[in-house]
Amino acid sequence: MKVLPILKYGNEILHRKAEPINNINEAIVELAQKMVQTMHAAPGIGLAAPQVGVGKRLITIDLSVGKDPSKLIILINPEILEEEGEEILEEGCLSLPGISENVARPSKILVKGIDLDGKERKIEAFGILARAFCHEVDHLNGKFFIDRLSYLKRNLIKRKILKQIKEGKW
Ligand code: NI
Repeated sequence: MKVLPILKYGNEILHRKAEPINNINEAIVELAQKMVQTMHAAPGIGLAAPQVGVGKRLITIDLSVGKDPSKLIILINPEILEEEGEEILEEGCLSLPGISENVARPSKILVKGIDLDGKERKIEAFGILARAFCHEVDHLNGKFFIDRLSYLKRNLIKRKILKQIKEGKW
């Protein structure tokens, strides 16, 4: 198993925009494989490269958490082309351990990206899968789900995190 450490909120790389991938080389393929293993081990349903310290536009999603290989999605340079509807559901993040809040997301999206073979893929996603894509693409833009909450809620959470950082518990 090649499990990578998952960075937490506050780490600089998570708060900036990730760079597009122009060349799918061996290092990218290996990174994707390590991300899948890290996501499964966590366990989580999605991971973005900045969460493992790499500022590149690569995401992995698997709603089955390793139980069904056909559910695994690895997408390079993902772009959300269309959004429709709205759904509010509790959301968490591996980089925000112990924190979950209701977040509004589109109920349906159309996402475009490139797979590891360099082929363009367009995926229509609903519900939790749409939410997972939005959450991971946010990471590539230096955003967290708490950035989508009200100012008041976000600041309460930020203060809680700061307190934990000071106490060495984060
Ligand atoms: Ni996350």
